[in-house]
Amino acid sequence: MILPILTEPNPLLRVRAKEMEAEQIQRPEFQKLLDDMTETMYAANGIGLAGPQIGQSKRILIAESSESGDRKPLALINPMISSKSWRKVMSEEGCLSIPGKWGVVKRHRGITVRALDRQGKPLTINSDKLLAIILQHEIDHLDGILFIDKAVRVEEMSERVRPRI
Ligand code: NI
Repeated sequence: MILPILTEPNPLLRVRAKEMEAEQIQRPEFQKLLDDMTETMYAANGIGLAGPQIGQSKRILIAESSESGDRKPLALINPMISSKSWRKVMSEEGCLSIPGKWGVVKRHRGITVRALDRQGKPLTINSDKLLAIILQHEIDHLDGILFIDKAVRVEEMSERVRPRI
């Protein structure tokens, strides 16, 4: 089921999302929510989607992880950045919750993220590629932060020059 994506300035995008409890993860309705988020992300041509963007104040995110070789989307629960590179990169970003705007944001080049997978098993992800950017952007969403808060430059553009996250 495709869910409506909230857009700025919806106040729900500004709330710090809550941690998931272990016993909630196996519930069919929660598993369905992860499937719906994945379907919603693809339908919107996005490569990342966080709980608050569909009005769920939960620390969950979906990311397109092409780095693993297949197009299987990654579902992360309670993700936490456990280490980050000193080196930073300037990232050009758009967001499904901020239509028509693009910005340049300074991000850590590489990060390590600890999370639970959709079965509730601990998982560690290292990336210094696009996935690192997606995860930093999505974890910001979980803290009520949008890329326009951090961008050194924001431009309005109708065309989609970059995938939105
Ligand atoms: Ni976004």
